[in-house]
Amino acid sequence: MKQTIRDIDWQGKRALVRVDFNVPLDDQQQITDDTRITAAVPTIQYLLDHGASVVLMSHLGRPKNKVVDKLRLDPVARRLGEVLGREVRKVNEITDAEAEQAAQSLQPGQVLLLENTRFDAREEANDDTMAQELAKLGDVYVNDAFGAAHRAHASTEGVARHLPAVSGFLMEKELEYIGGAVENPQRPFVAILGGAKIKDKIPVIENLLPKVDKLIIGGGMAYTFYKAQGYEIGQSLLDEASLDFCKRVLGDAQGKLELPVDCVVAKEFSNDAERKTVKISEIPADYQGLDIGPETVARFSQIIQSAKTVVWNGPMGVFEMPNFATGTRAIAEALARATEAGATTIIGGGDSVAAVEQMGLADRMAHISTGGGASLELLEGKELPGVAALNDK
Ligand code: 3PG
Repeated sequence: MKQTIRDIDWQGKRALVRVDFNVPLDDQQQITDDTRITAAVPTIQYLLDHGASVVLMSHLGRPKNKVVDKLRLDPVARRLGEVLGREVRKVNEITDAEAEQAAQSLQPGQVLLLENTRFDAREEANDDTMAQELAKLGDVYVNDAFGAAHRAHASTEGVARHLPAVSGFLMEKELEYIGGAVENPQRPFVAILGGAKIKDKIPVIENLLPKVDKLIIGGGMAYTFYKAQGYEIGQSLLDEASLDFCKRVLGDAQGKLELPVDCVVAKEFSNDAERKTVKISEIPADYQGLDIGPETVARFSQIIQSAKTVVWNGPMGVFEMPNFATGTRAIAEALARATEAGATTIIGGGDSVAAVEQMGLADRMAHISTGGGASLELLEGKELPGVAALNDK
């Protein structure tokens, strides 16, 4: 167990808080989804309410070690100020004299946001001089950036070596839900994996297969499993390099693996393409599978309905195209019903979060992760460097 912000007496202290404010921006640098900002508010508010001042740091995008004006954190400071209902001062520096002076002049209850940490080439190199300079800006380090906890950078890992280091509420919650599901799930425990690329999910499958009661696989990655079983998959996605892996998993699965039994195929990768529903063994040579079929939906939904813990990562089809979103929607609805029946349902980042949000079902899940890569690494069973660096209880 790691120490949390509850373990510190904050009166008169300066909290140096790493958050993940890597939010999507449109062409005018307007924030299009502020979930990651609002998700950090409970931690910030707690610190302010307990007599601390707060110095925030975050990355935004991938500026490749230099200043990129479009990736400055000013829009984030404005939005955070609105959400908190108080002024958020923003400086254009990260660690120099001006940043230090701004941090030192903070009074309890005041909030400062530093510039994008990735403008400094030392951040991603996890350079210790940067970590030491950051450490001068606070009395205690708080890591609430779950989404960046799989990165060993100066602001996520290095700085924790120079200050007392604890987790924030968002970090704690993400670890409780995702880490808890992987390590100590209520059973039956069902994992649902989808998405296009099987290569990205290999370590997750390896880690989860021995732990789950059922592993459901859908989406583009399912077709390589069919090819591995000797079926013809037409023009569907095939990852040749993963065929041997699929054969091995099919052999090891011992009845745990659930693959689609039917699918919706189309002549082209387009929403308006001619489409039909076929059995998996009957995919025509000139068609490609773009969604799971109704029989599969019924079967998967039944498994989900009987689960006590469900982790979902990756859509069941090309949900961005309305004609191929039916399977993903049906699975999201099955999860929503399972939540209502008392199951812990966890949506682990990336496209499945986008799908659940697009379908208006986000508030019917037990937990929606704010981390894409980070949640995947937790599902892989890896220790996240940003968590490992925090003080033990
Ligand atoms: C994310 O968006 O997943 C995190 O903010 C990490 O960003 P990164 O992949 O650029 O490190």
